[in-house]
Amino acid sequence: MAEDNTLVDIYIMGRHYRVPEGLTILTALEYCGYRMVRGCGCRAGFCGACATVYNFKNNPQLRFDLACQKAVEPDMFLVQIPFFPAVRAIYNLAETEATGEQVLALYPDLVKCFGCNTCTKTCPQELEVMWFMSDTLRGDIKEVANKSFDCIMCGLCAARCPQGLVPYNIALLCRRLYGHYLAPVSKHLDERIAGIESGEFDDELKKLKKMDEDELHSKYEERDIEPAY
Ligand code: FES
Repeated sequence: MAEDNTLVDIYIMGRHYRVPEGLTILTALEYCGYRMVRGCGCRAGFCGACATVYNFKNNPQLRFDLACQKAVEPDMFLVQIPFFPAVRAIYNLAETEATGEQVLALYPDLVKCFGCNTCTKTCPQELEVMWFMSDTLRGDIKEVANKSFDCIMCGLCAARCPQGLVPYNIALLCRRLYGHYLAPVSKHLDERIAGIESGEFDDELKKLKKMDEDELHSKYEERDIEPAY
């Protein structure tokens, strides 16, 4: 057990706990006995599953972050959001056009954006969310796909938007449209898929499946890096 002067007072769903300084919100919850069945994934800031909301004992302002990345601070009041109820349009990509009008038809609330920039300030990936929302309005699907490439779909932009917009779902649609209709086709990828389907790599795959973890690691480290095309 850590020394008392390294402990931090926090409150989880209103109940008082003392936890070691330096824990993330996620590990603090687990330290206090909460079992994270939902709202926890990669634990490394990549999957976006652990969106969390908190405030402080004498400061009611709500703050949002990723529970696996944010360290606990004294007098934090914590509660997990295992799911945020955000709008998500249903569409068949094959019947959807890669245009701004199409995105607007699926997400008509987009026009309500008044440029407060709260989404950008909230994004734990530090993406220019408001800017790619305005790219969406201009119908620049490629730019939205590029600017939102590192989105981890945590949903915090939607949780904070005062107009109830869902930037992460809108950007996901744009990335799908870009990948399906606009991205240049990779000849190299087509050839590699054809090779896999024709069994060209079957023997090699069999050998890989028999290797233990150490062998796989060294094989990975020794691999040839393909030149960029
Ligand atoms: S658990 Fe994956 S981002 Fe936090």
